[in-house]
Amino acid sequence: SSSIYGDYIKSVIRTVPDWPQPGVNFRDITPLLQNSAAFRKLIDSFVHRYQELEVDAVAAIDARGFIVGAPLAYELGCSFVPVRKKGKLPFRTISETYTLEYGESTVELHADAFREGDRIVLIDDIIATGGTMLAAASLIQRSGGHVVETATILDLPELGGSAKIQEAGYSVFSVCS
Ligand code: PRP
Ligand code: MG
Repeated sequence: SSSIYGDYIKSVIRTVPDWPQPGVNFRDITPLLQNSAAFRKLIDSFVHRYQELEVDAVAAIDARGFIVGAPLAYELGCSFVPVRKKGKLPFRTISETYTLEYGESTVELHADAFREGDRIVLIDDIIATGGTMLAAASLIQRSGGHVVETATILDLPELGGSAKIQEAGYSVFSVCS
């Protein structure tokens, strides 16, 4: 799925060829963030989608997910919960390790982040292979929360991430792809 501003938002995301490695087209959201009208339309797209649903918290993924997750939680008037990279959260945590193209990565969540049955929107900037979003969704389920939907600015469907997330039973919303 994509929002009514999808084509516009997509037009202000920059592709940087051969970064961080030759052959990789890096999707750079900084021009979108610099453009205040575009950033407002982006956040409004998420607000519009979730304001009529009962959402207890927005969980956002370290680091770029925070940029969209915090204003969304503020507008919805709900909690904000950070899913962080390993070693950043000070209290008792649960963690999930997932494989990357080369090596692995770990995301963590505070053990007391959610109450049983809390309804969560999980947000990040981009879904590529889907590994990061899936690991974060697993953490939320393990902690007793219910992932109402996983949300992203940009989906890269040719990498199969959003399909994988949907096969695991989660709904996926992307503003553009
Ligand atoms: C990037 C991006 C997503 C993730 C997508 O984060 O922001 O979180 O990779 O990739 P995947 O779908 O293959 O898991 P990254 O950890 O590179 O950097 P960040 O800290 O700037 O968000
Ligand atoms: Mg990221």
